[in-house]
Amino acid sequence: MSSMADPMDALVEIQQALNAKTPFDVPELGEGYKTWSIENSIGKRHVFAKIINGEIQALSIFGLVDPVDGIECWAVGYAVSERHRRRGLAVEAFRKGLEELKRDLSQSKVKSFYVEAVIDVGNSPSIRLAEKLFLCTGEKMIDGESGRPALWFKRLIVTE
Ligand SMILES: CC(C)(COP(=O)(O)OP(=O)(O)OC[C@H]1O[C@@H](n2cnc3c(N)ncnc32)[C@H](O)[C@@H]1OP(=O)(O)O)[C@@H](O)C(=O)NCCC(=O)NCCS
Repeated sequence: MSSMADPMDALVEIQQALNAKTPFDVPELGEGYKTWSIENSIGKRHVFAKIINGEIQALSIFGLVDPVDGIECWAVGYAVSERHRRRGLAVEAFRKGLEELKRDLSQSKVKSFYVEAVIDVGNSPSIRLAEKLFLCTGEKMIDGESGRPALWFKRLIVTE
């Protein structure tokens, strides 16, 4: 299990790039979602961002992490801009990203994979959300990066 950089920071950075009129020449997935991948020293990540009229409303980021029980695992982070919260966009961004990831991995003949999230115990909106997305309650742990108590959510996804 592994923690991820704060997805809110990614959302703010993308909005800054949009404000600076940085061209986003990347594939569109419908419903305003654009997607792109990043591969660097941290690893491989897929970004799914809902961008409407130059404003990023929501995003999910899936990053490849260490396998769980020998099965490929992707850590997810999500964020919704403050003025668009409580409209179901976090659920939408998660589902949209997961759908694409599933399609992608299925084409690479991956039969199943885990999706996981490590959430600070103080982040109750995100914990409520994760309980819905992962269909379970989280397992208690200490987050290796922050040293704080967290909950570990994981869900096995079958691609076929
Ligand atoms: C957590 C966050 C992503 C939720 O985004 P959102 O678009 O408002 O969430 P949704 O509208 O899709 O809500 C889905 C469910 O999450 C839960 N939820 C969301 N916000 C909540 C809140 N403020 N309080 C309690 N539960 C909340 C609810 O169960 C909700 O279902 P409901 O509306 O049927 O009650 C958003 O608050 C956020 O961006 N927070 C900062 C970034 C962050 O903490 N990311 C998580 C770390 S990975």
